[in-house]
Amino acid sequence: MNRIFSGMQPTRQLHLGNYLGALRNWVDLQNSYECIFCVVDLHALTIDQDSEVLRNNIREVAAAYIAAGIDPDKNILFNQSVVPGHAELSWILSCHTPLGWLNRMTQFKEKAGKQKDMANLGLYAYPTLMAADILLYKATHVPVGEDQKQHLELARDIAGAFNRRYETEFFPLPEPQILGEATRVMSLRDGKKKMSKSDESEYSRINMTDDADTIAQKIRKAKTDPEPLPETVTELEARPEADNLVTIYGALAGQSREQVLAQFAGAQFSDFKKSLVDLSVDKLAPITSRMKELLGDKAEIDRLLKKGGERAAAIAEKNLNDVKDIIGLLRP
Ligand code: TYM
Repeated sequence: MNRIFSGMQPTRQLHLGNYLGALRNWVDLQNSYECIFCVVDLHALTIDQDSEVLRNNIREVAAAYIAAGIDPDKNILFNQSVVPGHAELSWILSCHTPLGWLNRMTQFKEKAGKQKDMANLGLYAYPTLMAADILLYKATHVPVGEDQKQHLELARDIAGAFNRRYETEFFPLPEPQILGEATRVMSLRDGKKKMSKSDESEYSRINMTDDADTIAQKIRKAKTDPEPLPETVTELEARPEADNLVTIYGALAGQSREQVLAQFAGAQFSDFKKSLVDLSVDKLAPITSRMKELLGDKAEIDRLLKKGGERAAAIAEKNLNDVKDIIGLLRP
């Protein structure tokens, strides 16, 4: 059986990278797979959180999933912390994960910065919790943006090591699904940096809750170079900021970069940006307004998350019991 698991952290607002790199693909995949979509709130604790803000962000991410087109009845939609199995399996897997594997993780190196000794243990163990998320449901496929590739490889390594250690094929090796044109959306201020929630510049990203004026302002200010749009993708690739805007346009329009260039080659960026603003607003405004509507009824979001949590917990409990039996934990 094919089963999808994927998730997003409720840290700050979701942005265009989250939408184009992951969420939009989930919407398509929900028709071909059994899907579990999670708001990974335990992962969010790896950075300092205000409790009221965190609670609201969890609801906001759930609202974004639904507003983008995830059906909460057809799929399982829940927040991670309501299913205790995530933390429990994470511990079990961490006892099967050599430190050397975690030491290779580039995200820890980037996020911990120079003061590694001051980084919290959760940030270091983050990838084992992510492996637990996926393996708790024996998910076979994980749709993510390109930045999660290394974490996915680790999840596969951990699953493989567990299977070998206990001479079983209990865990499927989860396949990453890195799909579409915009697997790595870059910052609007620096075409060599990923668009990210943690960038201090608001102008580096388009948030899913930005209104039309804000989107227009951010795109207008987006860094470009003085040359007009080129004719070929090869010429584009030497110009990271230009490439990023063309990629975003293509992803929103459902076109390849070649198709975008066929339409805009020779155009000035000031004109191309106008078309990009119109397209972005056209695609994002309906999602933003649906999100706002959903967030007007918090009790309903909580009800949906609770129902999803119960469905997730039923699968998780069975699998976790099987894991305990395999490794020899007594369940009297
Ligand atoms: P997170 O919350 O950083 O991002 C959520 C999803 O958005 C994708 N993404 C991007 N895609 C393209 N361009 C970008 N600039 C960009 N920024 C983010 C991410 O690849 C991701 O798919 N560790 C995960 C959350 C997680 C998870 C999991 C994912 C926890 N457990 C289990 C899958 C399965 C993360 O931090 O995503």
